[in-house]
Formats: sequence, C-alpha cells, structure tokens
Amino acid sequence: MSSPLDRHQTEIQGNLSPWQNKPLLRQIYGGFYDRIITLLDRKLPGRIVEIGSGVGNLKSPLPEAIGTDLFPNPWLDLVCDGYELPFRAGSLSHLILFDVFHHLRAPNAFLREARRVLAEGGRLILFEPYISWFSWPVYGLLHHEPVAWRAPINFTETLPRPRDYYAAQGNATRLFFLTQNRGWPAGWTVFHAEAFASFSYLFSGGFSKPAWYPAGCLNRMQSCDQKLSRWPRLFGARCQIGLSPLDDSRDR
Ligand SMILES: C[S@@+](CC[C@H](N)C(=O)[O-])C[C@H]1O[C@@H](n2cnc3c(N)ncnc32)[C@H](O)[C@@H]1O
Repeated sequence: MSSPLDRHQTEIQGNLSPWQNKPLLRQIYGGFYDRIITLLDRKLPGRIVEIGSGVGNLKSPLPEAIGTDLFPNPWLDLVCDGYELPFRAGSLSHLILFDVFHHLRAPNAFLREARRVLAEGGRLILFEPYISWFSWPVYGLLHHEPVAWRAPINFTETLPRPRDYYAAQGNATRLFFLTQNRGWPAGWTVFHAEAFASFSYLFSGGFSKPAWYPAGCLNRMQSCDQKLSRWPRLFGARCQIGLSPLDDSRDR
C-alpha cells in the first residue's frame, strides 16, 4: 500500500534524537562524509547543493553546501524537490544525494533535472546502500524500507503523479553495479562507482536500532571493513557513485 510523501518528514523528525544522542552514528557518518568530500572538484564554478538533507548532517563537514529538502525544517537553506530544482541552468558545481537516490521513483526524471542545473563538468554524487550477500539480510530484515530487488524501475523522464513515498534500497546496486545496466544512464559519465564493506555501520543499528557493539570498538570494526572491502559483492554495504553530464547531452 502506498504511503503519503510526508512520511519523509515524520522520519526526519524521528531521526533527530538518534543523531543528537548517538555519537557512534555521528562518527560513522563523519567517515562517509569524508568519502563524499574526496569526490568534490573544488575548481568548478557554482554552488554545492545537497538534495534531501534530512536532519542536515552534511552541513558540519561542508558548511558551504546549500541544504535542501522536501519539507521545511529550521536547519535547511531551501525547501525544494529534486525533480524540480529552483536553480538556473548550469549554475551548480555539485549535487549531493545521501540516501536519497533510492527514494526517487523515476531516476531518469531526476537525472534530467540534475543535468540541467549542473555546470559544465559538474558532478552528481550519490551515497547509497549497497546490496551484497551479507548486507541483503540486514537491509531486508532489519530496515523498514524494501530492498525491492526485482521490482520494476520506472525509466520514464516524466514524474508519475500523484506523488507518494517510494523506497527501493537495491536501486543503486542494480543500476550502477550490475552489468545488465551498462550504458545507463544515457548522457552521463560514471567517473566513480565504489562499493565497500561497512559492518561498522550495519552493526551500529543506524538511526532506528541500538548498536551491537560499544563505540570504543569502532576503530577495530573499521579496520575489518577496510580489509573486507576487497570483496564488495560478498561484504559490501555502502556505495558511492560520481557522475558527470556529457557535454553534448545538455537539456537547457
Ligand atoms: C533516508 S532520508 C536521508 C536524509 C539525509 N540525507 C541523511 O542522510 O540523513 C531521505 C531524504 O530524501 C528526501 N527526499 C525524498 N524524495 C525527495 C525528492 N524528490 N526531492 C528532494 N528530497 C527528497 C526525504 O525528504 C528525506 O529527507
């Protein structure tokens, strides 16, 4: 059964307290943000915009980013929808989506809009769940969002209405890491696609469950993650993708 779009706002409100009271989570996210920052090209002209900022965490390591989301919250700079961005064509250097891509029912409709607002050489950075043999049961059984591994993906460039809440945690893995989707997305270069182990994250319980290990063990967990990242299909849990629009595909 479909849920209304404002379920996102309920979830954001629910995430505030764990974010403020769970230092382990903040430390883990700090590492994720470091990874995102390595994909920025600081020489590019234009502003950095985060779509779907949620509780607004990326602002701490990246205060210059414009924080946006679908619903108003005091820590945001702007309320906006990723499908209809209120920015001039070619005016942004980067778009960052952290755990947002798998909420986009029509990824191509978003990519079309992203291509419009990005400057030449601009970058779209996605950070997402990665579905491997080990992470699948955790995401599938312990997280409320569906993995939706076999569900059809809507490839139209027009957004279906009325809008509702959508989640498919497996979409980034399916679209960017499975060979059957080579060539997608048309009009973009994928300059980075990396999946890595993150048991430190999975066993932290995230925003909704208690941690399965004490914060003092984080370093040891992370060094295990580093070793296991050599086999992403088996142990991967997170992925990061960097895309850039091809010049001849601009839609202005
Ligand atoms: C799982 S939360 C992630 C929030 C935050 N980025 C984080 O990492 O904590 C997904 C976010 O995407 C936002 N979102 C979903 N669809 C969106 C859309 N079409 N445009 C902009 N934001 C959207 C939701 O409102 C929500 O804040």
